[in-house]
Amino acid sequence: MVDRPARVVLVGFMGSGKSSVGRLVARRLGYSFEDMDRRIEKRAGRRIAAIFRDLGEAAFRALELEEARALSLLRDRVVASGGGAFARPDTRAVLQEGALTVWLQCDLDTLLSRLPADGSRPLAGNRDIMRTLLAEREPSYRRADVAVDAAAGTPRQVADRIVGLIEGRIRGRAAARR
Ligand code: S3P
Repeated sequence: MVDRPARVVLVGFMGSGKSSVGRLVARRLGYSFEDMDRRIEKRAGRRIAAIFRDLGEAAFRALELEEARALSLLRDRVVASGGGAFARPDTRAVLQEGALTVWLQCDLDTLLSRLPADGSRPLAGNRDIMRTLLAEREPSYRRADVAVDAAAGTPRQVADRIVGLIEGRIRGRAAARR
């Protein structure tokens, strides 16, 4: 049996589809799905918006790093990371350990069209704020092992592309060993 990654970690901006695609990839691989933000909410006993409001962003980032460490102990997981997690060098290093990291690449207009204006994402500001934040973070997202186009197609089609990439890498490694 050629090694599958212990974890597949989806990275990318808010609205790129990490959670919906992640659930589908997990099902296809027979892995469990983990949503970092939901785990942080459980750990903190409050919603993301409340963590930012009551404790501040620095406290949120500290919780994010703790959560990345907890996830790094688990196997057979597909992880949807928060949009800022991979942009933090310390959290990124932990997320990369033993994992295949996948960037869900998406243009600004598509991202904006997908984000609900419900206040659930404290950093989702106006178009200019989002453009600046995306430009700041793209160099970090580029450090993922692979990138997939997450703007085109349904979540299922994006998930198919990711599973195809993972299977291709496993076949490639098996061929290299023969
Ligand atoms: C954030 C993205 C959110 C969440 C928090 C901060 C960011 O995750 O972690 O609101 O810094 O971009 P999603 O990418 O799942 O929306």
